[in-house]
Amino acid sequence: MTTSRTLGTPLSPSATKVMLLGSGELGKEVIISLQRLGVEVIAVDRYPNAPGHQVAHRAHVIDMTDGAALAALIELEQPDLVVPEIEAIATGMLAELEAAGKITCIPTARAALLTMNREGIRRLAAEELGLATSPYHFASSLAELEQGCADVGFPCVIKPVMSSSGKGQSKVDGPSEVAAAWAYAAAGSRVDAGRVIVEGFIDFDYEITLLTVRAIGAGGQVETQFCEPIGHLQVHGDYVESWQPQPMHPAALQRARDIAEKVTGNLGGLGVFGVELFVKDDMVWFSEVSPRPHDTGMVTMSTQVQSEFEIHAKAVLGLPITVAMRSPGASAVIYGQHDAKGIAFEGVAEALSVPGTDIRLFGKPESFTRRRMGVALATADDVDTARTLAKAAAAKVKPVVPQA
Ligand SMILES: Nc1ncnc2c1ncn2[C@@H]1O[C@H](COP(=O)(O)OP(=O)(O)OP(=O)(O)O)[C@@H](O)[C@H]1O
Ligand SMILES: [Mg+2]
Repeated sequence: MTTSRTLGTPLSPSATKVMLLGSGELGKEVIISLQRLGVEVIAVDRYPNAPGHQVAHRAHVIDMTDGAALAALIELEQPDLVVPEIEAIATGMLAELEAAGKITCIPTARAALLTMNREGIRRLAAEELGLATSPYHFASSLAELEQGCADVGFPCVIKPVMSSSGKGQSKVDGPSEVAAAWAYAAAGSRVDAGRVIVEGFIDFDYEITLLTVRAIGAGGQVETQFCEPIGHLQVHGDYVESWQPQPMHPAALQRARDIAEKVTGNLGGLGVFGVELFVKDDMVWFSEVSPRPHDTGMVTMSTQVQSEFEIHAKAVLGLPITVAMRSPGASAVIYGQHDAKGIAFEGVAEALSVPGTDIRLFGKPESFTRRRMGVALATADDVDTARTLAKAAAAKVKPVVPQA
């Protein structure tokens, strides 16, 4: 394992260089943490002035699904570590470069490859590791999908195998709705428009993200640590609120940790993983995993001694981390509410006047009605109060389109 536990001086021959593939709000925070350690950061995204571009030493704009373009940029920059921040990357090329000893990919190229496609990670989790998941089938035609739905039963959830943030995803209550869900999935898919997963609907009590960290421990070996569970609320497959800690039945927490340890142990490497789990009583189902910080984990910027971003930055460099909490807390998403470039935000002072709150505005150059443009954070003595405060602060921030 290559870990650079010796850190250099940026922009000098001794520099420790990290390349972020994807430079959104999550990448931006990882970059800020790396900058604090004097790491030289190269931020890559598919559009100019992405949030992470604005805080890195160098910014590049390429189509990251283009393997040749990705390889050329890596050849040019010679990073010590390549850190994927999004799923839509030419992960096959990362695997080739890693196999040839040309890059160290975080956590591993195989993890990036398996998790970019629901089929890869689901088959690994359910069929190889034997983890509890919703019943599922994959389908490449409407006829196969109809059969798959009949097998898993209604209601069920249909998703493109390559998509995120709920895109192309629908809940289906009966056979008459399957054709529409098939068409919707094809339109929302990122790459392969012809393949979907159908999952039996899990009637969970709550869902969590269990941030799981693989970091070098005191003995020099990789150790697995767990942050306190993060509860969250999803609307149309996109997160709107999260909080930490989510209270759990002790047996459910133990099951959740066992599942997370198995799946992250198989994926390997170093860094933060966001293990998504459904919980009902003491039963736990594995849903999916991000081999990187998780959007619902933005709450850790207020709740933990080290945020998931700082933990990721340190863990991937081979440095020790802590998962200790600072306070219960919550996050609430601030949406763009407009389709426009260069929007402005009113009400920031009012938002920050809500006790115990803070906000992050990501600096995205273009807003869409449902694009996440910022987040409100809150801490309080208990999670319910924190949720109320975070929502109150988020509601006070008013995106506006400046008049030309
Ligand atoms: N089988 C299921 N049963 C019940 N609810 C589900 C199921 N699958 C998904 N959901 C709900 O939809 C949400 C989004 O699903 P999933 O995480 O698979 O999609 P995604 O597009 O990868 O989202 P993201 O990228 O934001 O994590 C889940 O967090 C959960 O609330
Ligand atoms: Mg998810």
